[in-house]
Amino acid sequence: MSEVAHSGGGVSESADARAGNPMWSSRLAFILAASGSAVGLGNIWKFPYITGENGGGAFVLVYLLCIAIVGLPILIAEVMIGRWGGGSPIRTMQWLVKKEGLSRHWVGLGWLGVSASFLILTFYSVIGGWAVSYVGEAANSSFAGASSDEIGSIFGGLLSNPWQLFMWHSVFMLAVVMIVARGLKSGMEKAINILMPLLFLLLLVMVGYAASTDHFYAGIEFLFAADFSKLSTEAVLSALGHAFFTLSIGVGVMFAYGSFLPKDVPIVKTAVTISVVDTGVALLAGLAIFPLVFANGLEPGAGPGLIFQTLPLAFGKMAGGVFFGTLFFALLVIAALTSAISMLEPTVEWLEERQGFNRMKATIVLGALAWIMGIGTVLSFNEWAEFYPLAFIPVFEGKTIFDILDYLTANLIMPLSGLCLAVFAGWFMSRKVVKEQLGLGDGVLYDSLIFTLRFLTPAAVAIVFIYNLF
Ligand code: PFF
Repeated sequence: MSEVAHSGGGVSESADARAGNPMWSSRLAFILAASGSAVGLGNIWKFPYITGENGGGAFVLVYLLCIAIVGLPILIAEVMIGRWGGGSPIRTMQWLVKKEGLSRHWVGLGWLGVSASFLILTFYSVIGGWAVSYVGEAANSSFAGASSDEIGSIFGGLLSNPWQLFMWHSVFMLAVVMIVARGLKSGMEKAINILMPLLFLLLLVMVGYAASTDHFYAGIEFLFAADFSKLSTEAVLSALGHAFFTLSIGVGVMFAYGSFLPKDVPIVKTAVTISVVDTGVALLAGLAIFPLVFANGLEPGAGPGLIFQTLPLAFGKMAGGVFFGTLFFALLVIAALTSAISMLEPTVEWLEERQGFNRMKATIVLGALAWIMGIGTVLSFNEWAEFYPLAFIPVFEGKTIFDILDYLTANLIMPLSGLCLAVFAGWFMSRKVVKEQLGLGDGVLYDSLIFTLRFLTPAAVAIVFIYNLF
């Protein structure tokens, strides 16, 4: 789809070489696509369960702080660099380094991003597969009137069966490949435009239902009453890691999506909107889920099974539960899909720039590779549940392949590449380009953004990152 920019091997063409290539049709299209990437399993599945594991309110507060101080500035920086460079993350960094006369080591930032999003895709697709399988369960009335034990055994049964997991993972990955192969406008934009608003609407319905239970207030209290004695350093790290994960930053995705962003779109305002949408959806998901957890006497710290065991209970009890349950999991699949698509995009954009690869071929090759690599995650929940391949490295002790990939990407690669992005934008990009790209003149907004990118963001990330390593 972007033959002009991707033809030939030189790195000297600028973003202008892309003139005539497909771009997002509008600011809204970009907001929906970037929000589609941001809003995914991370919001509806991961945020509630890590909040549950880390004791609620205090964790949420730290998380919101991480979004504001770390997530948003990096999102702005990433979209800005992406649009300025106009190619895949790697091509963009090659071009920028050359143009600005910077060290070639900065190209590593592009590589880091591209590999992280690809690694995430390998396990994200397996979890997306859980959601696909739950569409079937909900439609078959498996949850109707079921006890929590019965629902627990549906989930346990799925995880313990590698063939079933593999099948759903395959279905999910196939859908990702089919959409990405069709390109920016006919593939991604089309799906996203309809599905994102629908997901939002359904979440509101779920929150409405939660509000009708006696335990809505307990849910609100759990989410918003901060008890700092429950906050561990581990939790702070987890909040920071999740700020990256949930905004899809530090993984080349916003680079890639930014490269299709029309020049007249204001980046700061747009990035704020994306962060607000993403955070709003995560909080709404928490508000939908925790009241039901408490109403049914369940454990908020249940871990990854939370959404797959708690929500079905609610669907099993509510009127029209089969219909709403099916719709909810279908939309969860779609939220996951719009994220997974974005994970494949940076690598596809990069491979497309190689000679001999068009979009179709690049998508198929990379999709197949991610699909095969996903088998490691599939087996992490059953046959290899006690296989800890990197146990000799202290931070990976007791971690399965899935745990390793999750930890490596969310807690190590994303913060590291986010840190580099902030430093790059704050210290190495010329003031003129930053102002031009952001459409900001001198003023408080520009000054505080640069100050944050130069000092606050790197300091916050570095402290937590170093603590984590040692
Ligand atoms: N932001 C997505 C979510 O919260 O589910 C996850 C994600 C998407 C991570 C894209 C990384 C990525 F490249």
